[in-house]
Amino acid sequence: MKTAVITGASDGIGKEAARALAKSGWQLAIVGRNPDKTAQVAKELGAVPYAMDFASLQNVKALSERLSGDYACIDLLINNAGGIFKRQPPTVDGFEITFQVNHLAPFLLTKLLLPKLIESKAAVITTASIAHCNAGMFFDLDRVEKNGEYSPYMAYGNSKLANILMTRELDRRYRELGVKAACFHPGVVSTSFAKAKGSPMGLMYNTFLRKLFFMKTPQEGADTLIWLAEGEPYQDWQPGGYYANRKPAGISRKAQNQDLALALWEKSEALCAPYL
Ligand SMILES: NC(=O)c1ccc[n+]([C@@H]2O[C@H](COP(=O)([O-])OP(=O)(O)OC[C@H]3O[C@@H](n4cnc5c(N)ncnc54)[C@H](OP(=O)(O)O)[C@@H]3O)[C@@H](O)[C@H]2O)c1
Repeated sequence: MKTAVITGASDGIGKEAARALAKSGWQLAIVGRNPDKTAQVAKELGAVPYAMDFASLQNVKALSERLSGDYACIDLLINNAGGIFKRQPPTVDGFEITFQVNHLAPFLLTKLLLPKLIESKAAVITTASIAHCNAGMFFDLDRVEKNGEYSPYMAYGNSKLANILMTRELDRRYRELGVKAACFHPGVVSTSFAKAKGSPMGLMYNTFLRKLFFMKTPQEGADTLIWLAEGEPYQDWQPGGYYANRKPAGISRKAQNQDLALALWEKSEALCAPYL
C-alpha cells in the first residue's frame, strides 16, 4: 500500500484530494490546522489525523518527527496547506504569516522529510497558484519574509511564486536521487481559503462577487492534484513542471529564474536553520 502525507487535508482542495486517494487505496496521513476538522476527515477516511498550525516552525519540526516515526516509507508528500491571511503581527518565528504558512513551513517539512522521501523515491506535489504571475511580480528576496512589507494579496502572490521556485530547485537538487517534484494551479475554487478581508481576493471569495466568477467546486479544484498524485512521473507529467487543468502551464519570468530559485532555497535554509 502506498503512503501519502497531505497537508491542508482538513478542508477544500486537500480534503477532496484525500477522499479520492483514499478511494484508490492510499494510506493517508491527514494534516490540518483545526484539530476537530482534521480528526473528522481522518475518521471518514480511516486515516491518521495530524493537527498542526504551521504558524510555528517548531510545530512543523514536531510534525516531521511524528511522520518519520509513523511511516517506514512516504511515497507522496502533498504540500497543499495555505491561504491568504489578513495583516497580523509576525509569527512566533518572527516572519510574515503568509510567507511562513505557504512557503517556509512546506519548505521545512520537505527538507526534514528528505531522507525518507529520497529512500522512498517519492513525489512531492505543491499547490501553487496563477497568482504568482501578477501578485508575485514585486517579489523581493531581501524583504519577502518581513512583516508589514506587503499587502495580503501581494504576500500571497510572493508565497505562491516561492512554491514554484521551491519545486524547481527541489527538482534540480534531488531528481537524480529519485525525488519527483511538481506543482500546479487548481483554478479559482470555491473554498474558504480567502477569508482575509480588505484584499481583492477576500472580496471576490466572500461577497456576492463570487457569483460573477465561474468558480470550480472543491472536487473540480482537486482534479489536477489527483491526476498528478496518481500519474506516472516522466510519462504523464515532467518533474520540475507547473500544471493547470492536467496540462503544463506557463510560469512568470521570475518563476523561471533558476538563480532566484537557488537564492530562495538558501535563504529559506537560513531562516529555518534553528530547526534543521
Ligand atoms: N481556492 C482557490 O481558488 C485557490 C487557487 C489557487 C491556489 N489555491 C491554494 O490551494 C491550497 C488549498 O486551499 P483551499 O482553496 O482548499 O482552501 P481551504 O479550504 O481554506 O483549505 C486550506 C487548508 O490549509 C490549512 N491551513 C490553513 N492555514 C494553516 C496553518 N496556519 N497551518 C496548517 N494548516 C493550515 C487549512 O486547515 P484548517 O481548515 O484545519 O484550518 C485547510 O486544511 C492553498 O495552498 C491555496 O493557496 C487555492
